[in-house]
Amino acid sequence: MALTSQNGPSNQKQKQGLSFTEYCKGWSVLLYETFFEKISSRHLKSPLPLPPLSDLTIILTGPTSGIGLEVARNLAFSGAHLVMAARNTKAAHDLINQWNHEISYCSDDDEAKQLLDIEVMKLDLLSLQSVVNFAQEWNSRSRPVNVLINNAGILTMGKPQSFSGEDGFETHLQVNHLAPALLTILLLPSLKKGSPSRIVNNSSTGHFLGFVDVDDMNFTSSRRKFSSFKGYSSSKLAQVMFSSILQKMLPAESRISVVCASPGSVRYTNVARDLPRMVQSVLQPLSFFLYTPKEGCRSVLYAATYPQVQDYTESLKAQDSPVCAYINHDCSFGCVSKKAQKLETSIKVWEKTLDMIGLPSDAVDKLLNG
Ligand SMILES: NC(=O)c1ccc[n+]([C@@H]2O[C@H](COP(=O)([O-])OP(=O)(O)OC[C@H]3O[C@@H](n4cnc5c(N)ncnc54)[C@H](OP(=O)(O)O)[C@@H]3O)[C@@H](O)[C@H]2O)c1
Repeated sequence: MALTSQNGPSNQKQKQGLSFTEYCKGWSVLLYETFFEKISSRHLKSPLPLPPLSDLTIILTGPTSGIGLEVARNLAFSGAHLVMAARNTKAAHDLINQWNHEISYCSDDDEAKQLLDIEVMKLDLLSLQSVVNFAQEWNSRSRPVNVLINNAGILTMGKPQSFSGEDGFETHLQVNHLAPALLTILLLPSLKKGSPSRIVNNSSTGHFLGFVDVDDMNFTSSRRKFSSFKGYSSSKLAQVMFSSILQKMLPAESRISVVCASPGSVRYTNVARDLPRMVQSVLQPLSFFLYTPKEGCRSVLYAATYPQVQDYTESLKAQDSPVCAYINHDCSFGCVSKKAQKLETSIKVWEKTLDMIGLPSDAVDKLLNG
C-alpha cells in the first residue's frame, strides 16, 4: 500500500507548538485522568481476569519494573510463553526465580507448580543495533509471535537534553518511539506467522500535550526549547501517529492489529525516578489518586489479550480509519488527540521515522512478503 505526504511548498506559516486551546485541552484530559481514574474504572477487577494464554508467545519490552513488571507477571502466571526483552537481563532472571519460588511455595496444586514458560533476551532500546540483533535472533528461530508489547519507556525529568551514544537521537524519541518502531517492523515476519497477532504500544495521555515537528524530531534546531516533558509527550505522539499509518499499511488479510493503550497515571514505577527529591515530595499527596502498577497494567493486558480488541481493530481497518485503536486506562475504546488525527502529519512522521531508523519506504511490504 502506498501513502505519500505532500511535500510541495506551503504558504502557511508552520506552527511550532500547540495552540492555547490544544494546550488547555491536553492538560484537562491529563488532569481528569489523574484525579478521576480510580472512580472511572471502579467497575474493573484488579487483577484483570485474563483468557487462557498457553498458546500464545508474547514479547514484552521493559518487563523489569513498574507497569511492565506487572504485565509480565500476569501474562506468565496465565500460561503465556513470555519473552522478557530486557536491558537488565539479570533483573529479569531474578524476577523469574522469584516467581517460580512463589509458585512452588504458595500452591498445593501440582499442576500449578509447573515452572513458568519465560525466557529472557537482551534488548537495549538506546542502541538501534541492539534492536536489530534482537529481531535477527528471534526471526532466525522461525517461531511465531502472537503479541508484541512495546512497553519500555523513559521520562528523564529534571535532566538536561541527552542523545543516544551510538545513534545520536534525542533519548525520549529513541527509547519511546524510534527503537520500538524498528523492533515492530523487523518482527513483522514473526507476527505474520503468529497471526491473528497484535502490536500493543504502551502509550500515554501525555500524547495530548505532544507536538511533532517533523523537520526537527530531535529538538536540535532553536525553533523549540527542549524540556523533558516536551520530549516525552512528543515521542508518545509520534508513536501514536506511526501506529496509525502502520495499521493502514498492513493488509487486512495479514490480521496483524495495532493498538495503543494508555495505562493511566501510575505511581510506584521508576518512570519519575529522575525527578528531583523536592519535586517528588511535592507530588507525594497526588499518589492517593493514582493507580498502582497492578491497576495500571490492566489496559495493556486488555489490549494484548481480549478478543474484542481484535474485532475493534478489524472494524477500524474496514472503515479505513485514519487512526489506530486506542484503549483508555479504564479499558474502554478511546480517541487519540486531535493532533494525532492529522493524517497528513502522520504520514510525514511515518516517512521520517523510517528514514531515521534506516528502513526503506517499502519495508512493510518487503518484510511481509519475504
Ligand atoms: N507511570 C505512569 O504514570 C505512566 C503513564 C503513562 C504511560 N506510561 C508508560 O508506561 C511505560 C512503562 O513505564 P513505567 O511507569 O512502568 O516506568 P518504569 O518503572 O521506569 O519502567 C520502564 C521499563 O522500561 C525499561 N527501559 C528503560 N530504558 C530502556 C532501554 N534503553 N532499553 C530497554 N528497556 C528500557 C526499564 O528497564 P530498566 O529496569 O533496565 O530501567 C523498565 O523495565 C512507559 O512506556 C511509560 O511511558 C507510564
